Amino acid sequence: MWLDGRLVDAADARVSVLDHGLTVGDGVFETMRAYDGRAFAVGRHLERLAASAAGLRLRLPPAGVVRGAIDSVLASNGIVDGVVRVTVTGGTGPMGSARGNAEPTVIVVGADLVAWPPTADVAVVPWPRNERGALSGLKSISYGENVVALAWARDRGADEALFANLAGDLCEGTSTNVFVALGGRLYTPPLSAGCLAGVTRQLVTEACEVVERDLSLAELAGAEEAFLTSSTREVQPIRAVDASPLPAVPGSLTRAAAEALAALIVADIDP
Ligand SMILES: Cc1ncc(COP(=O)(O)O)c(C=O)c1O
Repeated sequence: MWLDGRLVDAADARVSVLDHGLTVGDGVFETMRAYDGRAFAVGRHLERLAASAAGLRLRLPPAGVVRGAIDSVLASNGIVDGVVRVTVTGGTGPMGSARGNAEPTVIVVGADLVAWPPTADVAVVPWPRNERGALSGLKSISYGENVVALAWARDRGADEALFANLAGDLCEGTSTNVFVALGGRLYTPPLSAGCLAGVTRQLVTEACEVVERDLSLAELAGAEEAFLTSSTREVQPIRAVDASPLPAVPGSLTRAAAEALAALIVADIDP
């Protein structure tokens, strides 16, 4: 792994117990997919990292340094088909919410890919995403709500938890964006619904005909087909919503989205 400017063995990597990321969840991150030893869509991920860092008023190392760290971690660990995660925290600081003056902590870790199942069952959780919250749209490391939501969904036999927002509209999953087909058209919630601007969501939206609009939970439940997107899941068909199977798994629009994304990955490692 890479920590604060150099490659280190995981066993030797040390972060302070007073790191503000550890004590209060003050940090941002990105998870990228690596294909053939190269991280995919690094440019888009680093842009989002910069936006998240700006939202939390965190300083980042220059993008070239982070790119170099990603490449070194993949190469030094011999990762071909894998994932690489960049985490930046507020660094060592006081125990409360105020940040200290320390340099940010910067961590880059890689791992071999653990493949997702071919389909996912989803459950809509009873807690809302706050589309007006201070962290809305930022990829912060404060994922406690996602931990609770995913455990709730898993207790009910589902693989991913989906949130509605405060307005009651469909928002996103704990680590995924969501697309639904209605009347033969693909829809996905707009960013104003409070979802993360997923890189995969954006690529699918650019490659396929997708309408961004608020979607009700009834529309999700009544979808002809639906799928999740994320850097590691790519396009993953949804098999059932709250234990009710969807009619087409995968449907033709889901298949077309998966094919379009696969073609993009082959055509350009940094689209
Ligand atoms: C909350 C949330 N939404 C959506 C996504 C999907 O984003 P991407 O396609 O950039 O991986 C993620 C990724 O981890 C996420 O954490």
